[in-house]
Amino acid sequence: MKLAPYYEDPEVTRVNTEDDRSYYIPFPTAEEALAGEGKNSGRVTLLNGDWKFSCFPSQYEMSETMLEPDYDDGGMDTLPVPSVWQMHGYDHHQYTNDLYPFPFDPPYVPQENPCGLYRTSFLIPPETEEMRHYLNFEGVDSCLYVWVNGRFVGYNTVSHSTGEFDVTDFVQAGKNSLCAVVLKWSAGSYLEDQDKLRMTGIFRDVYLLHRPQDHIRDYRVKTRLLHGGKAEVSASFEFSGNPLDVCVSLYDASGRLLQEAETDDEIRFAVDAPILWNAENPYLYRLVFHTNGEAIAEYVGIREVTVKDATLYLNGSPIKLKGVNRHDSDPVTGYAVTEEQMMTDLRLMKRANVNAIRTSHYPNAPIFPQMCDRLGFYLVAESDLESHGGQYLYPMDYANINRIPDDSRFAASTMDRIHRNVLRDKNRPCVLIWSLGNEAGYGSNFIAAARWVKSYDNTRLIHYEHSIHNPDRDQSCITIDSNMYFSPEDIQKKLDAPRKKPYMLCEYCHAMGNGPGDLEQYWNMIYRYPAFAGGFVWEWCDHAVQDGVTSDGKKRFLYGGDFGDFPNAGNFCVDGIVPPDRKPSDSLRELKNVLRPARIFRTDDPFRFTLKNCLDFTNLKDAARLVWSAVNISGEKETQVASGTVEDLDVPAHESRDFSVCFDIPDSGITAVRFSLEQKGSLPFTPDRYEMGFDQFVLGGEYRSGVVCHRPGALDVIENETGYLLKNEKFAYCFSKLKGVFTSLSREGRSLLNRPMEYNIWRAPTDNDRNEKVKWEDAGLNRALVRVYHTSLKQTRSGAEINCELSLTPLSRQRILTIHAKYTVWGDGTIDAELDALKDPNYPFLPRFGLRFFLPEDYEQAEYVGYGPDESYADKRRACWLGLFRSTVSEMFTDYIRPQENGSHWGCSFVKLAGSRGSVAVLGNGFSFNASHYTQEELEKKAHNFELKPCGSTVLCVDAAQSGIGSNSCGPVLSPDYQLNEEALHCRFTFCFK
Ligand code: GAL
Ligand code: MG
Repeated sequence: MKLAPYYEDPEVTRVNTEDDRSYYIPFPTAEEALAGEGKNSGRVTLLNGDWKFSCFPSQYEMSETMLEPDYDDGGMDTLPVPSVWQMHGYDHHQYTNDLYPFPFDPPYVPQENPCGLYRTSFLIPPETEEMRHYLNFEGVDSCLYVWVNGRFVGYNTVSHSTGEFDVTDFVQAGKNSLCAVVLKWSAGSYLEDQDKLRMTGIFRDVYLLHRPQDHIRDYRVKTRLLHGGKAEVSASFEFSGNPLDVCVSLYDASGRLLQEAETDDEIRFAVDAPILWNAENPYLYRLVFHTNGEAIAEYVGIREVTVKDATLYLNGSPIKLKGVNRHDSDPVTGYAVTEEQMMTDLRLMKRANVNAIRTSHYPNAPIFPQMCDRLGFYLVAESDLESHGGQYLYPMDYANINRIPDDSRFAASTMDRIHRNVLRDKNRPCVLIWSLGNEAGYGSNFIAAARWVKSYDNTRLIHYEHSIHNPDRDQSCITIDSNMYFSPEDIQKKLDAPRKKPYMLCEYCHAMGNGPGDLEQYWNMIYRYPAFAGGFVWEWCDHAVQDGVTSDGKKRFLYGGDFGDFPNAGNFCVDGIVPPDRKPSDSLRELKNVLRPARIFRTDDPFRFTLKNCLDFTNLKDAARLVWSAVNISGEKETQVASGTVEDLDVPAHESRDFSVCFDIPDSGITAVRFSLEQKGSLPFTPDRYEMGFDQFVLGGEYRSGVVCHRPGALDVIENETGYLLKNEKFAYCFSKLKGVFTSLSREGRSLLNRPMEYNIWRAPTDNDRNEKVKWEDAGLNRALVRVYHTSLKQTRSGAEINCELSLTPLSRQRILTIHAKYTVWGDGTIDAELDALKDPNYPFLPRFGLRFFLPEDYEQAEYVGYGPDESYADKRRACWLGLFRSTVSEMFTDYIRPQENGSHWGCSFVKLAGSRGSVAVLGNGFSFNASHYTQEELEKKAHNFELKPCGSTVLCVDAAQSGIGSNSCGPVLSPDYQLNEEALHCRFTFCFK
């Protein structure tokens, strides 16, 4: 059949839908409305469930008879509603970031446009027969045609917004047939080019509302702070049908009735001594609107957003947005997410000190902002609007991105999308900022829409990052400036200049793979500048599609390109703080501690510290306890030296105070004190004494290992042209004059190395190395060969000393490093290695510099003194502290979906790996190591973690240093502070084999 051509008409955004309104669920009585949860109302018939379904390559394959009420649909498939059909084997998955997955020919879309026909039936509850019936679809991608009892009802677009149809005149008593046709692409798809897996279907709830003939159509609640510590709560109404008298009741959070009055228009209540809403204390009042035969309950947060001196204030207090960008996504259900799934995200966020969410890049399900009201999150509520692919027209010219926002054919739909967002969530206290959309250029369509938002709602700020690309066009309605991925240096330049609007990063710290490494750097700046309102990490969660599990139980997560999809953006969708299944990750813990509610700083006095409250409203004494523990690490022992509680935490929001601790620092070993901020009392997601964050300070001392080594003794040395054999009754070591390293080590007949030792400057590139990787490979860092120029051995009283001049030089290029290596072999088999290297400054910074060992596979038990227990790097280590940790090689592996460098530990002075019959201990000063069953080559070669094969050894990399992590997968180049780029490198290690 051929559908009415709405889907290719950008000016038809809806046919026969109701006007937009705020989201609410009506109940029969005020009592039920107050007690009711979600859609559990006598006035709702939820239509979710198994529907009949057929998927066609295009509408032309579908027959019109299938829409008839008595069509025999027994042969059709069954599909759950809500769901996306790609997750049920229809059509195919595709992941594209910004490239349009279809020819750019607006408003036309491919004629082979996958088409889903849905059929179900419903009953009109007998007690509602005299009422009006509204059919609601909360989310359908990309557009929807609806028939009831074989008659066409209407059409809707804008995937992430509700389409509501008055079906009163279409329904009959008893059974009714409902058909929906969903197209994968429509003119609206030009405005939904968000970076996501492209999925299709009825992915949110479908239900009927049964309502009195005359009823409240919409209402608007506003709150205002008045002088004298009072507040005003107002509500105004619009009716469907005749105006009604509404009984409006205001309750406090405990359910106490505060005020009640009747109106048919607008009501204002003055509230004495109001408790204001904020993310730290999300206090909610309730309003109930009761009209003849219907009641609606609404949560109300009293709060006020203002700007003063370019600083964002809430309720008169400056605030920082500790934000993340969140998509509705799940590896099994795709865009269709339940309240429980959303709750999982919010729970993890709360536990990680996150207080703000940008609903990138569309309105989430309508209950999501309600949950944010209740739990305490600030929202940047974004419209469903992105036309990023416009920039790829041929020939490439970035200015083309303005074609759509300047195309008058898209003016109405731009406005419509922004309307829908604002009108639906206008009563949500959590929404502090409206976002017009994402990456859609900045043209006249936007300017008009921004003007409307500003005139409609002056109680919030307006954000639209892409406006900056057209600085000469009207920016007056954009009331908060933002950038994405700007470097700290560029931000500093902006913030040092005078400004009028607050500033935020709507995206920063691209959390792809191992990373981000620069969170702390950004937060230092955010705290430094009052106008810097905070930032939203890109992004909360990895997107992937789970394709079952492997035989050993590992989830098979797939990404762009794995579905034969073209074009695709590979694993660029796997760029979240948490993995697709929301397993708490190292990156999440890193974020959590950077966002800790209080920070502690050192003073000149080693026992005196400054405690800064980083909350915006709460006095620390009401939220936290501060406990501390000082430990001494010496030998293979970590001992507590002292501990205590900092008693007086009377520190108002944003303020600081000094405190002291007191104990004796032992003469030997390292001593460090760790302050742990523990939650006082329990909260919905966090128990009493939950650790909200910590700070640790190393007070001094030097680590001394307890490993007994360095015993002198006699050695026999046999030299030939290519090397030395050094041996005594205990061990036999071969040193190669061609390789400049030990090629075999054996002890009491056991071989300690499965392969010769190696000099190592490479790492399996992280996602954040993706740009550097190109330079590194071009320079040849991944194919450097050893060339030895000169080797000498002298026997000494301790044993023997080998000196070796060598270089690392890639094919076709000059030397990268010129190295002088000195190996001292002691009578007990201990090896001291001392490396002095000079780097050719023409080369890019190095991934790492160190030695690699292939140890027996069963060297599984690990013990180290360094930064753990999570992986740690020079810049990514805020979830870690200095300590003595015990773990296993397998546990130290961080399992990134696209394998890459992982599991390193920074700032180490000791590591020991032990197997059933032997061990190796490494001693040094501030080195990094990682131990893994996978080689860096294997990690680099494999596209998915489930393809990895262990190499049969425990690979130990001991690094003088490793470059940091950063966030350059989309963000700035790794800060020079964390680039391994010194011209002269020096390190010393002791290897002690048992
Ligand atoms: C931004 C965009 C996001 C995402 C990110 C890269 O430019 O707004 O949607 O694509 O880059 O992961
Ligand atoms: Mg984009």
